[in-house]
Amino acid sequence: MTFYRGRRLRQTEEMRAFFCETAPVLRENLIMPYFVVETEDQSLEKEIASMPGQYQLSLSKLEEHVAKAVDNGLHSVILFGIPKAKDEQASQAYAENGIVQQAVRQLKKRFPKLFIITDVCLCEYMSHGHCGVLTKQGTVLNDPSLEYLAKTAVSQAQAGSDMVAPSDMMDGRVAAIREALDANGLSMTPIMSYAAKYASAYYGPFRDAAESAPACGDRKTYQMDPGNSREALREVFADLDEGADALIVKPAGPYGDILRMVRDNVDVHVCAYQVSGEYALIRAAGLNGWVDEQRVIMESLTGLKRAGADSIITYFTEYVLEKGLAR
Ligand code: PBG
Ligand code: ZN
Repeated sequence: MTFYRGRRLRQTEEMRAFFCETAPVLRENLIMPYFVVETEDQSLEKEIASMPGQYQLSLSKLEEHVAKAVDNGLHSVILFGIPKAKDEQASQAYAENGIVQQAVRQLKKRFPKLFIITDVCLCEYMSHGHCGVLTKQGTVLNDPSLEYLAKTAVSQAQAGSDMVAPSDMMDGRVAAIREALDANGLSMTPIMSYAAKYASAYYGPFRDAAESAPACGDRKTYQMDPGNSREALREVFADLDEGADALIVKPAGPYGDILRMVRDNVDVHVCAYQVSGEYALIRAAGLNGWVDEQRVIMESLTGLKRAGADSIITYFTEYVLEKGLAR
C-alpha cells in the first residue's frame, strides 16, 4: 500500500525549518504604532483601557518608549497625534508645530536611522471626528478634504517624516498628496496608501486611543464594505495610478484573502495593518490565560506573511522585540 507520508518532512525541528515555506518574521518587517498627545504633562503615559499594554504618550514618554524599543531592534514606527484642540478645518493636522510634526522632529534628532512613517488623516484633528470635511447636513465632502490632506502630508514631510501614509479613503488623495509633495520639493518622500481599508468594527479600540470616533454617523461612505473583494483591486489600482509607492491592507487577519489577492496583482510593497481590535482580542485572551499569547501573536504574524504581507503594522511590535520573538 502506498500513500502520502506528509509526516516524513516534519520529524525534527531542523527538518521543519528547512521545509518551511514562509520566511520567519523579521524585525525589519514590523512597524510599531504610537499615539502621541499634545500636553504640558511630560510624564503622561496613559494606558488605553481597550488596549492593555498600549499608551497615550507625551513627547518625552514617546522618546523613552522608542529608545527602549530601538535597543530591542525596532526599525520603524507609524505615528498618530492627539492634538490639544480640534476644529472643523483639522488645523492641527497641518500646523507646523502640530504634535506629530514635533514628534517627528524630536525622534529624528535622537534616532536618525529610525524609519518614521506618519499617518495622514483628519479624524484625530476634526471636532466631529470624520476623516474629511463635513457639511451641516452631515455629508463628508471629498474634494474639499483633499487640500487639507495634502497640506498635512507636506507638513509632516517637512518635519522629517520618511514616508506618509494616507488613511482617510477620500478619492484622489494620493494624486493630491503626490502633487503637493512634488510642488514643495519633496519628490523623494514616498507614499504608502491605505488602499484597501474596510469600514471595520475592529477599529473600535483605536478610536478610544486616538479620541477620533465620529460624533455622528459612521465611516461607511468612504471606507469599504467588508463584503467586497473585487472592489479592493479597483482601489489598489487607482492608488497606484495616482502614484502610490506602497500599499496597506487593513484590517489584516480577517482580510487574508484580500492581502493574497493584492499581493498577486501588484508589484509594489504590501503592508498588512493588524488593527487595534485584532490586538485587543488576542491580548484579552492572553491576559485571561485562555491562549498561549506569544504563540498566538507569532502565528497571527506568520499568517499575514504567508498571505503575502511584506511588512506588518502591529501593536505587538514592542512586545515581540522585547521577547526576542522576531529574527
Ligand atoms: C485614521 C485611522 C484609523 C486607523 C488607522 N488610521 C481609524 C479609523 O479609520 O477609524 C485604525 C487603526 C486601528 O484600529 O488600529 N483614519
Ligand atoms: Zn481618519
